[in-house]
Amino acid sequence: MTVSLEQLRRCHFAVDLGAARTRVYVKGTGLVVDQPSTAAVNTRTGGLIAVGEFAEKMTGRTPDYIKVVRPVAGGTVVDIEMAQRMLRHLLGDKMRRMLRRKPRLRAAACAPHDADPLAQRATIETLVGLGARRVELVDTLIAAAVGCGLPVERPEATMIMVCGAAATQVAVLSLGSIVTADRMPVGGEAVDHAIVQHLRHEHGLILPTRSVRPLQLALSGNGLTPHGPASTEIHGRDVATGLARSVRVDTAAVRGAIQTPLTAVLDGIGRVLRDCPPDLVADLADRGIMMVGGSALLPGFDQMLRQATRMPVHIAERPDICAAQGLGAMLEGRIEPLVLDPLAA
Ligand SMILES: Nc1ncnc2c1ncn2[C@@H]1O[C@H](COP(=O)(O)OP(=O)(O)OP(=O)(O)O)[C@@H](O)[C@H]1O
Ligand SMILES: [Mg+2]
Repeated sequence: MTVSLEQLRRCHFAVDLGAARTRVYVKGTGLVVDQPSTAAVNTRTGGLIAVGEFAEKMTGRTPDYIKVVRPVAGGTVVDIEMAQRMLRHLLGDKMRRMLRRKPRLRAAACAPHDADPLAQRATIETLVGLGARRVELVDTLIAAAVGCGLPVERPEATMIMVCGAAATQVAVLSLGSIVTADRMPVGGEAVDHAIVQHLRHEHGLILPTRSVRPLQLALSGNGLTPHGPASTEIHGRDVATGLARSVRVDTAAVRGAIQTPLTAVLDGIGRVLRDCPPDLVADLADRGIMMVGGSALLPGFDQMLRQATRMPVHIAERPDICAAQGLGAMLEGRIEPLVLDPLAA
């Protein structure tokens, strides 16, 4: 997946199709779409009822004939046609007309590290369906590193960790390239799932998806106390009776429940560091790890990483949109020529 900066600079728009959110950057305009990768479909007519935030709000609240679908799963486009329809709606008429006027429309997209050829093909086909004549793929790790302003082109090592919804990717970068990297199929979704399962088993409570976030905040304590309140009240539905019920949940126990997915992430970081040449590991001890992706905002995640690795850990300024911003910087030609394509410099 090596692509020259020159090719990227010729692209008109860039897309980051994530399991949770879709972002689109249009050259000369900026980030025009940052919405959930969700569509609501009328199963009787096949028509699209809503996309993005509107469709997301319908999750779990629809009558039988409306289905809320997610065309991207596990970092891969699983329903190409639906992804195209969703993107068309998210872009809107005005933006689509503007892109259609380009004589040879070119697009860029980021693909997860180690994405297999089939997954790469699915992303390309999605954008070809949108009118792109040529599609360039960029490794998400590189796009995110550029997006958060890491000095990737320098010979010193930098470490990036992209904490997405479906996966967590870690890499050590030097001289504009990936030295070692790993992708763990564990992300924000797995953490949410662990919390939901914990409440079901321990309290017999079914939690609406929307209530997971307040519980995460309780874990961090919002800065009130070092480890947050000892317990927090949660509303849900009783597994047995089906009636609404609220329980006081012990936050320490929830913190324990999310350890399992987070430990898988720590193991991955350990593997990447073990495979990394010793000279670069020495650089990393000073510079530490840069966390990007929406799940980097998971309360307490950075602290846990700091304790486990004893390295400095930073969270990017806008971690969620780093990959899209990185693609944008490449399209606008705002990065050092050494990045991605050392030989062409
Ligand atoms: N403030 C927050 N606190 C905790 N988790 C958050 C916060 N904001 C976003 N998330 C989590 O981040 C995830 C979305 O991150 P992101 O937008 O990077 O995912 P994505 O790019 O769609 O996924 P992927 O790259 O894995 O395909 C969701 O699982 C969401 O729950
Ligand atoms: Mg992502």
